[in-house]
Amino acid sequence: MKEIEIKTRLEIYDTVEELPRDVQQLMQRSFWIRDKAYAPYSNFLVGAALLLSNGQIIEGNNQENACYPSGLCAERTAIYYAGAQFPEETILKMAISAKSLRHKLSTPTPPCGACRQAIAEYEVKQEQPIEIFFTGETGKVVKSSSLANLLPLVFDKTYL
Ligand code: THU
Repeated sequence: MKEIEIKTRLEIYDTVEELPRDVQQLMQRSFWIRDKAYAPYSNFLVGAALLLSNGQIIEGNNQENACYPSGLCAERTAIYYAGAQFPEETILKMAISAKSLRHKLSTPTPPCGACRQAIAEYEVKQEQPIEIFFTGETGKVVKSSSLANLLPLVFDKTYL
């Protein structure tokens, strides 16, 4: 038996204003779309904005359903739209923000496991890392320079 240790690397920014200008703009777009989320059951609003290689920004938010599992997270709403409409473009960056209508959310909110798996699919497909930035309603922003940093031991097409 041998033990292995898996390390990851993230950058922490104190505020949105500390981010590079283009990422600030992307984050603003995620705030804008987050506030239009359809989340009547959780009251937890999430927005995701993607920057594509053609300069276009794609936005998505969470869409809930009375049959709870039929709802979809913001990140997948956005990335599946990008995959459907712009299959030839590379996804360069993704900004994610969350806000609870029940309490003040000041903790950076990472994409859930299912969304990480979905984002990983596109990162593997395009053979180029996607920079991920996530925040709460206020406070710090976390940057991961690749989805792979958020999902070690990813299951991908190489296993099929
Ligand atoms: N949600 C997202 O949109 N993205 C995530 O990564 C985590 C959770 C949504 C799903 C649901 O509508 C609400 O947040 C509460 O889980």
